[in-house]
Amino acid sequence: MSNLVVSGGAPLSGKVIPSGSKNSALPIIFATVLCRGVSVLYGVPDITDVRVSLEIISTLGASCTRIGEALYIDTSDMEYNRPPLSLVTRIRASSYLLGSCVGRFGRAHISAFGGCAFENRPIDMHISAAQRLGCTVWDDLVLASSLVGTDIRFDKASVGATVNTILLASRAKGRTRIFGYAREMHIMNLISFLRTAGAKITLTDGYIEIEGRTLTGGVCRIIPDMIEAGTYLSLSLATGSDISVVASGTELASFLAAMVDGGAVLTDSGGEIALSGSLSEPLRVTTAPHPGFPTDLQPQTAPVMARYSGGEIIENVWRSRFGYLDELSKFGVEYTLMGNRAVIMPSRLHSAVAVACDLRAGAALLIAALMAEGESVIKNAEVIDRGYERIIEKLRELGAKIERTE
Ligand code: UD1
Repeated sequence: MSNLVVSGGAPLSGKVIPSGSKNSALPIIFATVLCRGVSVLYGVPDITDVRVSLEIISTLGASCTRIGEALYIDTSDMEYNRPPLSLVTRIRASSYLLGSCVGRFGRAHISAFGGCAFENRPIDMHISAAQRLGCTVWDDLVLASSLVGTDIRFDKASVGATVNTILLASRAKGRTRIFGYAREMHIMNLISFLRTAGAKITLTDGYIEIEGRTLTGGVCRIIPDMIEAGTYLSLSLATGSDISVVASGTELASFLAAMVDGGAVLTDSGGEIALSGSLSEPLRVTTAPHPGFPTDLQPQTAPVMARYSGGEIIENVWRSRFGYLDELSKFGVEYTLMGNRAVIMPSRLHSAVAVACDLRAGAALLIAALMAEGESVIKNAEVIDRGYERIIEKLRELGAKIERTE
């Protein structure tokens, strides 16, 4: 177990360049399994979830080599065997083994995935889409002698189910249309990658249309991580700092709009974004699938609310994603929780020892620790490394005093 020891209370300054997006890199890494040959991915972040994903596909015979900014994944000689549970249970993205392994080998095991456990994370939509495309499910084994394209209709937007269905449909005979698909930027990044591998995918406002094909190695650049960008912008506001982030205002639109509604001043100078000023109004955050406010950014807004006029978080994607509030209260953050609605009071923060219960919870605690004067300790800090590349180095470059202890 690793701890982060933080001496907080001082404003920070500098520019942050976000790494490649975790949520984009992981599905694309699993998609390379479908693409026989060498795929080249640029800008893949060096984070724990990526390392574990590469280990998983390596157990199936993929060969993964980083040279400079490029990650080469050679999937020419793979064969199916069940990846070790010790790896699969470490990350949520191992659920993409369903689409990638059934698409490539006609089989996959789907038991016990890992990742952040805010609540039970169902995969019924993934399974029913797979069954509609011709898969049979025996306990934890999914089998398909052939995949046949069809219409799939989702009645809610699911990133994971959309990814798995795109993967399966890319190898199915004939045409698949996916209605009610998730519209996150990382889904678009996956589609771009698969197109370079030979997939025929068209996108309309109503559905994604896919003609199954044989796929060969593809190429793509992983898009910048907007959740990381939003995390550093939240840190900037919460600590009254002068931090700018290289990011697209369009992709962060729902986050920036909420901050500006609360009274923050937005500066966007050609792709370099900063938020400043005091938030004179309570912040209001209501999470929803893209283009709504991302669930992965809501925990980081709670310390911002605490510093200024308080606020309200309504969580509509993971209704109980509030486990971090108890830990945040150790820093003095006052809140009340009613179902999927949390109200954060203006609070005076002090240093504390707290435990990161998941990745974004860890980011929220780190922000609180950097706000509070004195020395704070965040335990179980390795969960933060699952999604933030070089976080200690990046924070030190902004002037933060932070050490890791084991
Ligand atoms: C979700 C988030 C994603 C975030 C990730 C980790 C959305 C739409 N997705 O992705 O941005 O990065 O959590 O925090 O914001 N669901 C079912 N059955 C299924 C699959 C999902 O009922 O088979 C429900 C879930 O309970 C949840 C919603 O659909 O309420 C969205 O889940 P989904 O997008 O699939 O989850 P992730 O892919 O993990």
